[in-house]
Amino acid sequence: MDFSKYEKSTASVWAGETDPLPNGAVTTPIVKSVAFAYHDLDEWHEVALGKADGFIYSRNTNPTVHVLEEKIRILEGAEAATAFATGMGAISNTLFALLGPGKRVVSLNDTYGGTSRLFLDFLPRYGVNVTLCDTTNFDQIEAEVAKGCDVLYLETPTNPTLKVVDIARLAAAAKKVGAVTVVDNTFATPINQNPLALGADLVLHSATKFLGGHSDAMGGVLCGSKELVSKVFQFREINGASIQADAAYMIARGMKTLELRIERQNASALTIARYLKAHPKVRDVFYPGLETHPGHDIAKAQMSGFGGIMSFSLDGDYDQVKKFLPKLQFVHLAASLGSVSTLAGPPRTTSHVELTEEQRRQLGIPESLIRYSVGIENVNDLLTDLEQALAIL
Ligand SMILES: Cc1ncc(COP(=O)(O)O)c(C=O)c1O
Repeated sequence: MDFSKYEKSTASVWAGETDPLPNGAVTTPIVKSVAFAYHDLDEWHEVALGKADGFIYSRNTNPTVHVLEEKIRILEGAEAATAFATGMGAISNTLFALLGPGKRVVSLNDTYGGTSRLFLDFLPRYGVNVTLCDTTNFDQIEAEVAKGCDVLYLETPTNPTLKVVDIARLAAAAKKVGAVTVVDNTFATPINQNPLALGADLVLHSATKFLGGHSDAMGGVLCGSKELVSKVFQFREINGASIQADAAYMIARGMKTLELRIERQNASALTIARYLKAHPKVRDVFYPGLETHPGHDIAKAQMSGFGGIMSFSLDGDYDQVKKFLPKLQFVHLAASLGSVSTLAGPPRTTSHVELTEEQRRQLGIPESLIRYSVGIENVNDLLTDLEQALAIL
């Protein structure tokens, strides 16, 4: 079915699920079978060679996983998609499949902690030349890309200070030198931002976050041209970072309500960010939807909504965070984000725990910073909750 003439909410529900199912089932089955049997050896051979559609072995492809891949493929407007066991599976497989000894990748100082470890620790061990730039110094990034590189790796908005990176400008620079632009779209989601339409070549997600949306399944996805996705897919087949059918089902089910959740989370986050910005006990609020955010204009140009995540610093030090966070009632103090329930935590304890205070300061992360991922609760209840917790400071 051609979904290009339908809206994202329709595609989220129907993509990958338009064919009639056995017994008239109205939701896709969780196919746990490890292998798929054939009576006709010629047919098996054709499928094994990739000349005919079908499934052989679930490390490679699986019908339930295919449903998830179709949903994200359509939502990101891509030719092809492939899924992974986790978001880091998607990121590491993509980088290792595209890079090798003597190749060069240009990226940002502010990528997700796991990604940053790949850049600083693992990729250099395999002879990959890594250059990390000041995340919002687009002149510097362009200059590094112009020196020649194989991959430009971006993430926007970033974790935890919600910096906004100009995808169209940097993807155009990468195109000039024949580099592949990859964007981690986890924070924005395909409802708010479509990097491929802005000139990127590949877009990936930690599906563990907003796509699944319920903090109950881990996964990763990658979308782009058939040629590039197939290059990464071939590495993933052998590397083995395949998602299980159960997790793929949970994420695909979560995706059916993606637009509803994201619309709610966009609206609530903006309301909460404005409230916090005006609060005397809050020093700074980092949310791209605020007119005062340095990346607001770029965010307005490349995003249709500003997302459900913000961070804010309290007027004080880490002791204030220790007093404040446990007082919140409608928040899980946990390391994840993008769920139906509100989640919060200090980067000092979560994403940036391994850095020194000075390293965090250099990244613009104050000790009193809190990352707050807004759930789908009623926004007035969340505001009341924040108000009573701030009142004790
Ligand atoms: C922006 C971003 N990308 C990638 C990942 C990694 O995803 P996963 O935990 O599913 O491996 C995370 C995890 O928090 C993330 O926040």
